Formats: sequence, structure tokens, C-alpha cells
Amino acid sequence: MKDKSKQLQAKIDAALLGGGQKRIDAQHAKGKLTARERLHFLLDEGSFEEIGMFVTHRSNEFGLEKEKYLGDGVVTGYGRINGRLVYVFSQDFTVFGGSLSETHAEKICRVMDLAMKNGAPVIGLNDSGGARIQEGVVSLGGYADIFYRNTLASGVIPQISAIMGPCAGGSVYSPAITDFILMVENSSYMFVTGPNVVKTVTHEEVTAEELGGAAAHSSKSGVTHFACTNEIDCIHTIRSLVSYMPQNCEDEAPVLAYEPADEKRPQLGQLIPANPNQPYDMREVISGIIDEGSFLEVHKNFAENIVVGFARLAGRSIGIVANQPAVLAGVLDIDSSTKAGRFVRFCDAFNIPLLVLVDVPGFLPGTDQEWNAIITNGAKLLYAFSEATVPRITVITRKAYGGAYDVMNSKHIGADMNYAWPSAEIAVMGPKGAAEIIFKNEIAAAKDPAAKLNEKVEEYTAHFANPWRAAERGFIDEVIDPADTREKLIAAYEMLKNKADKLPRKKHGNIPL
Ligand code: HXC
Repeated sequence: MKDKSKQLQAKIDAALLGGGQKRIDAQHAKGKLTARERLHFLLDEGSFEEIGMFVTHRSNEFGLEKEKYLGDGVVTGYGRINGRLVYVFSQDFTVFGGSLSETHAEKICRVMDLAMKNGAPVIGLNDSGGARIQEGVVSLGGYADIFYRNTLASGVIPQISAIMGPCAGGSVYSPAITDFILMVENSSYMFVTGPNVVKTVTHEEVTAEELGGAAAHSSKSGVTHFACTNEIDCIHTIRSLVSYMPQNCEDEAPVLAYEPADEKRPQLGQLIPANPNQPYDMREVISGIIDEGSFLEVHKNFAENIVVGFARLAGRSIGIVANQPAVLAGVLDIDSSTKAGRFVRFCDAFNIPLLVLVDVPGFLPGTDQEWNAIITNGAKLLYAFSEATVPRITVITRKAYGGAYDVMNSKHIGADMNYAWPSAEIAVMGPKGAAEIIFKNEIAAAKDPAAKLNEKVEEYTAHFANPWRAAERGFIDEVIDPADTREKLIAAYEMLKNKADKLPRKKHGNIPL
């Protein structure tokens, strides 16, 4: 028995070394952690249980039969984050560059299957040279097995992908299907075709970092939701992200203890500038409403004209979607619509109530937007809100003009409670544009057309640029003092906490993609 135990320990020791000390040192020299070190920081201390530690590949091509490493380039298993179960896989770059073999894929599929059966999130730490080149199509099949599971798991359990090294070629499509992608600045990249292929095909000269680094994907493409300054920051962000989510679509997000206190927030009354065309930072409205310091912004650097993220209100998780008047006047465009639409669908799939803060002048005009399909893309957000069955509350802080009023979680598309501040302007369009159209002849005939226009703008403003017409119709449930917003929202979410709503029976809808 002693010999057997020794043999076991020898195998464990070998597995822990992955591709060997030299390659571990090389990984460290690049400023990167190993697969196991990452799991150590990600999971509650001592909670990791490994599955498949002794798996090796089955390939006999290109001399691979002589080169086997226990675990085959991915560490898989389960553990806890703040005491809650999660399934994990962490690719080990020290073994064949973390490349994906048939058995490597089987190990990932195994934890995904367990996660689905047991209803807990899957977190993947990606650091891989892609398909194991020596294995050919078997490796491609392994990828497809993972993509298929990612798709079936979508909306059932939260799926999170951290990119902590290379992620290239078709392998990018697994993270792409998952709910959230995090990247580490200057040490990770994602692209379908790398710089060499780009140069051959389009003659563009671009580095891997420029093409597919965290900066590019967090601000230009929106592929990644978080650009993290280093691996530890990335791991802490994952732990924080998970804390807002339920374990699965049948579960509720954890509720933190909350002591009721004075919920008045007088500072909210000071935020709207006297001039309706002057910007202000919607993040200040958010921080005035939510539990202190609880905002986790998602997609911070992408489509900054809309702000989305998780927060807590009286200890409960909520998802916030808010126009940002400080950027492009908070206009809705293609990127902001897709960004917010995807976030709304995540919250709805996982029972996280929505709070929508509205200050929107409308949709962005222009050929760029029209030719790139603002119609289809704007419809994504409209569709996402319309089919969301979680508690949905809207607060209009200032502008709610045109179609954007409808889209931004209006009563008409199923919002549960709609509030407006006295500064709200709810109308078909802004006063100047409206006056120019409906009083066109009167203005043209006036002795002083500019003075006449001003007069008509004031008339229109007094008549429509306010919350009262909408409140009279019941489209707004209550016009509230900004200082009371937090108190009103806490009461309304409490009132809505047992909301049960169902969509008509169907196989699935057909969101405009
Ligand atoms: C097998 C691989 C590998 C791979 C790297 N290695 N990628 N082994 N299959 N795909 C091995 C290397 O041989 C090396 O082994 C070790 O991993 C580390 O690689 P290095 O090149 O020394 O590291 P580095 O300089 O950091 O470069 C990393 C890299 C580069 C940029 C990822 O290795 C690379 O370009 N790899 C190939 C990428 C690729 O073309 N993959 C296939 C894409 S197609 P030793 O023994 O020296 O340590 C694809 C299709 C997926 O993925 C389709 C899904 C549908």
C-alpha cells in the first residue's frame, strides 16, 4: 500500500508541474500566472476539487505518443466563490501551449455537463494556442462539442470567460457565446485571423495587441465586457461579477443583509442642469440611488453613451441600463442598442430586476447609422425590453423623445412602474425641431422669424416638454421628487418581488439579429 501511495503522490506531483518547471518559469517571465495559480486566486481557499488530473491525450501522430503530460493542458474541476459552487476550467499554457486536444475538450465538456446538471456557473480561464495542431480534425470536433454545450447552457447557467493569453481562430467562438468576457491588458488577445493573415489578405500592418488586445475589444468592438489591468484584477472582477448572479435560471441572486435607514438622497435634486442641453454624468444619478459602492459597470469603455451594470438596492441585485447624457447627449445608436440589449437579456434570463434611467434625445441620425442598420440594431433593444419578464422600473430624469421614449422601457412595452422627475421632457421630439415643423408657415410669415421661432419653442416647451401629459395618461405612474427616488424604488421592487409573468407559448422568438 505504501508503494501505491507513493505512486499516487508521484503522479500528483507530476500533474502539478504541468509542462515542467522550465515552462512554468517562462510563463512567469511573461508576467503570467500558471493555470493552477489562477484557480488558487479565483476560488475560496481550499475549496478546489480537481477532476481528470491524470487524463492524457490519445494521439500517436508526429511523435506525440512520446510526449504526454498528466491533465493534458487543462485543469478542470469545481470549487466555491464566496461559499457558492462554481465549475471551472483553466487552460495550462505550459502543456503544448494550452492547445486543445480531443481529451482536453472532453475535460471541459465534463465540467460543463456537471454544471448544467447541478445548476451552477461555469468559469473558463483561457490561455491557449488553439487547436492541437498534431490532432487535426479531432481537435476541431472537440471545439464544436464545447460550442454546442455553450449554446445549450446559454440562459440556463451563467457562463464567464476570462482571456488570459492567446485565444485565436475558431476558438474565440466559445467565449463569444458565453455571457461575459474579461481580458487582461497587454497579455491577452482574441482574433479570428492573426496579424500575419491580415497582412496577406488586406495588406494592413497591425500588432496582435492592436488587432485583438483588451483595449481594442473593450472600446472598439465591444467583444470584451471588462479590460482588466492584470490577472489578479481580472480574477477579482470575476468573483465580484458572480456575486450579483443567481446560480442558474431557476434561482434568485443572493440578497445581502440590509438595515433600513433614511433613504432620502437630496443630492439627486442637484444634478440636472438648468439648461436642458447641458450634459451631466448619469453615473452620479446611479450612485445616488444604489447601495453605496455597489455598482459594477459592464462594458465601461464601449458605447459610452449608455451605461449598463450590476448594483444592489437594499441588498438586492439589480441590472441598470441608463442613457449617458455626458456622451453624445445620451443618444441611442447601433452600439449602445446592442450593448444594452444583450445586458437586458442576461438580466432577464437570470431573474435580475431591471432599473432603467432615461435621458435620451432620440436615435442618432446619419448615413453611417442607417447603412449599418440602426433599424435592426435599435430593434434589438426594443425586443429585449419587450420580452423581459423580470420586474422592470423606469425613471425618466430628463429627455425621453421620440421612438427612444418607447424603447427605453416605457409602460407600453411592459414596464411595471414608470417614474419621472419634474425635469422630465416627454414628447415626440425636442422643442426646437418640433416648432420648426409645426409652425413653419407662421415663422416664415413673421416680421422677425427668429423671434417667432423662440416664441413657438417656448410655447411648445410649456405644453409638451414636461412629464405632465404622460402622467395624465397614466404612462407615468408618478412624478417624484428626485430626493425620494431611492425610497420609491426600494418600495416598488419589494412590491414586485413575487412578479410572475409569462411570454406566449412559442419555440423561441426571432430577435432581429
Ligand atoms: C500544438 C502548440 C500549439 C498548437 C503552441 N504550441 N500552439 N502545440 N498545437 N496549436 C506549443 C509550441 O509548440 C510550444 O511547444 C509551446 O506550445 C509554446 O508555444 P510558443 O510558440 O513557444 O509560445 P509563444 O511564443 O508564446 O507563442 C504562442 C502562440 C504560438 C502565439 C500561441 O505558439 C502560435 O502561434 N501557435 C499556433 C497558433 C495556431 O495557429 N493555432 C491553430 C489555430 S487554428 P514547446 O514544446 O516548445 O513548449 C484553430 C482552429 C480552431 O485554433 C477552430 C475551432 C472551430
